[in-house]
This record gives sequence, C-alpha cells and structure tokens, in this order.
Amino acid sequence: MVKIKTLEMIKINKLFQGVKANSDINLSIREGEILGLLGENGAGKTTLMNILYGLYRPDSGHIRINGKDIEMNSPVESRRHGIGMVHQHFMLVQNHTVAENIALGYENSAALYPQRKIKETIVEFSRQFNFDIDPTKEVWQLSAGEQQRIEIIKALMNGADLLILDEPTSVLTSHEAQDLFKNLRELKNQGHLVILISHKLEEILDICDRVTVLQKGRIVGEAQTKDVDKNSLARMMIGRDIIFRIEKEPMESTQKVIEVDNVIVQGDKEIDVVRGVSFEIYRNEIFGIAGVSGNGQRELVEAITGLRRVESGKITIDGTDITNESARCIYNCGVGHVPEERIKFGIAPGLYLYDNAILKQHHRKKFSSKFFLAYNKIKQHAQNLLTDFKVLAPSINVQTKNLSGGNIQKLILGREISENPALLVASHPTYGLDVGATEYLRKQLLRRRRDGGAVLLVSEDLEEIFELCDRIAVMFRGEFMGVLKSDAPELKDIGLMMAGSLQL
Ligand SMILES: Nc1ncnc2c1ncn2[C@@H]1O[C@H](COP(=O)(O)OP(=O)(O)OP(=O)(O)O)[C@@H](O)[C@H]1O
Ligand SMILES: [Mg+2]
Repeated sequence: MVKIKTLEMIKINKLFQGVKANSDINLSIREGEILGLLGENGAGKTTLMNILYGLYRPDSGHIRINGKDIEMNSPVESRRHGIGMVHQHFMLVQNHTVAENIALGYENSAALYPQRKIKETIVEFSRQFNFDIDPTKEVWQLSAGEQQRIEIIKALMNGADLLILDEPTSVLTSHEAQDLFKNLRELKNQGHLVILISHKLEEILDICDRVTVLQKGRIVGEAQTKDVDKNSLARMMIGRDIIFRIEKEPMESTQKVIEVDNVIVQGDKEIDVVRGVSFEIYRNEIFGIAGVSGNGQRELVEAITGLRRVESGKITIDGTDITNESARCIYNCGVGHVPEERIKFGIAPGLYLYDNAILKQHHRKKFSSKFFLAYNKIKQHAQNLLTDFKVLAPSINVQTKNLSGGNIQKLILGREISENPALLVASHPTYGLDVGATEYLRKQLLRRRRDGGAVLLVSEDLEEIFELCDRIAVMFRGEFMGVLKSDAPELKDIGLMMAGSLQL
C-alpha cells in the first residue's frame, strides 16, 4: 500500500431523487493536515465522505491519491487505499464483543479468526493512543465514547492513513472530546490525514488547519482556521449572523407539573444508579440537569418516561401517580420525550417520513377515520412539521433513513414538541444540529416554557443549560449535588459539583 501524501476529490456530483447532494465539489488534503468540513444539516457532508469511502458512487467526478486517479467502488477498496471512516451513527454489532467487531472486516485477518492475535493488537493500539479498551466486552455494554474509540481503533488497525470522522464528538462528553483531539493531533504529527465533520465551531477552530464550508451541496467557503472566527464561520455557513446568546424573559412559575419523590432506579448492571433523587418542575419552567453523562441522568429520564422500572419512590404528573406505568400511558398523561439515542429509539428508519411523523400518535382521533388511519390528515400533519421545524427532505414520501442525520433529529423534535406536552423531557436536544437549527430549537424550548409547558432538559453543554434553564440540578453518581437558581452566585462552582467535590 502506498502512503497517502495528497488526496483530491475533483468535480464530484451526486443526485438523490432530484436533490443535488453534491454539486461540482473540489476538495483536497495533504499529509499532516486536519481538514474541517462544515455545513448546515443536509448540506451534503456525509454524502461526500461516503463517496470518498466508496459507499456511494458519484454520478460524475473522480478521486486522486498522490496525483493518480483511483477507482473507489467499495469500502473494501477504499480501506485498501488507506482510507478509514468513523460514521455519524455507529455501525458496531451490539451483541458482539469488541474483538469480534474489529475482526469483522479486518483486512489482514488470517483464514481462521486469530482471536488472541487480534486482542493483542487491539491492546497494543489502545495503549499507543491512551485508549482504555477491553476487547472482551460486548458492545451494548459500552458508552458512546467507548464505541467511538473502537471505531477509531478499527480504522487504524486496518492501516488508515486518512481518517474520516463524521461528527465524532456529538455523543462525547467534553472530556472525551478533548481526549479524542489529543489523539488526532498525535495522528497528524505522525503524518496522517484527518477529515473532521462537526457542527461545533469551537472544535473546528481548535483542531483543524483548514475548513471547507458546504451549503446545499456546493462549496461556499474555504479558509485557514487562523484567519476566521465563530461569527465569520457561521456567516459563511448560513449567510447570516447567529445569535449565540438568546435572552429568556422572566416568568412566574407556581403550578407544579411533575413531582419526583426520592426515586431509586437501577442501571443495566442491576445496581442503583439513581439514588434517592427528588425534585419538582412547574409550568413555565425549564429545569436543567447538568452533569457528566453516565451519572444516572439517562436512567432517571427513562424512569420518568416509563422505559425503566422505578425501584422505590414516587413520580406524579399533575397529581396523578405514574410510577411504573407504561410508556404509552405516561405519554398520554402529557409527557413528551426526546430520547438521547434518537436514531435508535426515536424513529423507525425504514418507514416513510409521514409514518414517523406520527409515531406513538397514530391512535389519536385526529389521525384516524373509523377503523383506518386517515392518511390525508397524517400527510398534512407531516408536511406541517417539515415546514415548522425546517426539516430538509426531498418529500414526505421518502424512507426516513434517507434524511441527513440532523434532519432526522429535527423531525423527532418537531413531532414531540408539536404535541404541546405538559412536560417535555429533552435529552441532549441539540446533538447533531447545525448552529442555525440549534438556535431555532432553543427558541422552541423557550416558547414551550412561555406557553405554560414544563421542560426537563438534560444536557452536558453548560452554555445551553445556563442559557435556557430557570433552575439547574447537578447530578453526580446518582445523586443531586445541589439545585441552583440560574442567577445564583454558586453557579460558578458547578464544575466542582459535577466532579463530586462540592455538595450544597
Ligand atoms: N440515500 C439517500 N437517498 C436519498 N436522499 C439522500 C440519501 N442520502 C442523503 N440524501 C439527501 O442528500 C442531502 C445531503 O445529505 P447528507 O447526509 O450528506 O447531509 P449532511 O451534510 O451530512 O447533514 P447532517 O449535518 O444533518 O448530517 C439531504 O438532502 C439528504 O436528504
Ligand atoms: Mg451527516
């Protein structure tokens, strides 16, 4: 295999059902360089990288490595040329071990599955990059950050010179993201090439040497990162300024919507991960839970929304006891849920967009006529969602999996918010959204608050929490370290509370 020194994509075009996902795109990168790829949801970033990785064939255009034209007809071929990709949504097989997953598609594999050898190589690579990976664990037991690392190790073990990372940090904690960046810098120093897709402008500025901006399938800007800042990048991307801080109006909130009383919940390993948490949220209030993920937030949310058993304690909505009721019953009591792993739990990817637009709501009167579903009403509703939530899709008659990652997120958010739930539980609602969509979503949450809704916001993004929430709880090892008002002077200590070294 020849080491990649330069790689060029020349005049790449790709059309999907009338949508120009890529138009005449030229892109180049050389060894020791980290290139950022930026653009709104649906701009064509993933498509372009899927072409480079051999998953899609371009309608026209070609790829050159070290000045020579290369056919890239399949991922096997592109891996052979030294290209590795970590996808936007993980593709690991959940009930296989780490080693088995890496062995799948391992190019240098002997005829028989050389278990010991693969495990040793994994450990060796992990050590080199300071990754803590146990090859014998099954994938479902791992956090998103751990899965991310396995995807990277998998690509590197296949000898990737060029590593493509499609939104690698949207599911990582900020600490994990910093670790990842350290590794990327190390790879860069060793002469690797990296292409990084991210919606987080700070990250692009921090780690990339150059940035290319896509809009509606075309390149609309290119710059050395040292010559740009957050504002100029946002302008390049969406053609207008972005408000990075939105103001919230003060609101009286006295009417209780949810009361959580001394709740204990177990995790997957059957130990208590929520250990006696109590709080309440009122109408016209956004209540935030801050904390490093993995401290019980997910299990708490699942218990509230009926996806996990409550071991002891009580949860009421508008005075009705919903403890251990079914998810559907809780939903019908007025609890909307935007789950953390939306693509896995929020949609049925093979169904049409209009089906997903009413998932869980199909039994509502407004969507049925006698014994049948009223497809004209459903389609109208889906169309309205697309317009209201600015979901970019060719039409409502496509399979949902064909939407770009961010647009799937917007569809789910739109579906849950448009129901005007008494309590909206939103876990990391801006994961995967571009800056414009993030701004829009935050305004929607504030609108819900103004219209009398209660919102539970779980996020690791402190900026988001500070901006939106009226009160903030900090969760550590299954307990609240304190609940602060958003203007409390103690807010400065939130970092200490998140690390468990301060309890109020
Ligand atoms: N397999 C497909 N079939 C039909 N349309 C597709 C397919 N893949 C992508 N598209 C369309 O191509 C356009 C570009 O999508 P792409 O996934 O490349 O966007 P993206 O820039 O990665 O966005 P995001 O930030 O949301 O991930 C979108 O309009 C999308 O709906
Ligand atoms: Mg994408």
